[in-house]
Amino acid sequence: MDKTFTLTVNGQARTVTTDPDRPLLHVLREDLQLTGTKYGCGEGQCHACTVLINGQSTPSCITPIRNADRHSIQTIEGLAQGERLHVVQEAFLAEGAFQCGYCTPGMILGVVELLHGSPKPTDAEIRSRLQGHLCRCCGYPNLVKAVHRAAALAEAANAR
Ligand code: FES
Ligand code: FES
Repeated sequence: MDKTFTLTVNGQARTVTTDPDRPLLHVLREDLQLTGTKYGCGEGQCHACTVLINGQSTPSCITPIRNADRHSIQTIEGLAQGERLHVVQEAFLAEGAFQCGYCTPGMILGVVELLHGSPKPTDAEIRSRLQGHLCRCCGYPNLVKAVHRAAALAEAANAR
């Protein structure tokens, strides 16, 4: 039986009436038209569908909507502020840290969470933390560079 759920998505209150077992990924893409979150494996293995739930990176394909009720969700659409890209987006562009871009929204949100907990991560930390994010284009070396650049940009912005 359908139920009504209230979520805060990218800072806005959204209400959805649906099957409680439906994956958050489908609700975001189909009901809220937030198609920046990508469907990869659908089994929690590739992290293309990563969103932040209360700041924690989470595969939305295996998260039923009932588990997201009354929580704060951040998707890739909520990162830029108007025309100004988030530092992680800026760094990905500058370092060419993507090719087809399919894994990129999930990867970027994973990096946002990483930098929140570890503002100056080492190469080993970056590799270990992001190993669950699969990139079919194998853009891993540039990804590591992009994380370091994003960390430097964030540090410079905080020093202003
Ligand atoms: S689509 Fe969710 S982990 Fe692959
Ligand atoms: S950039 Fe193509 S899958 Fe990662």
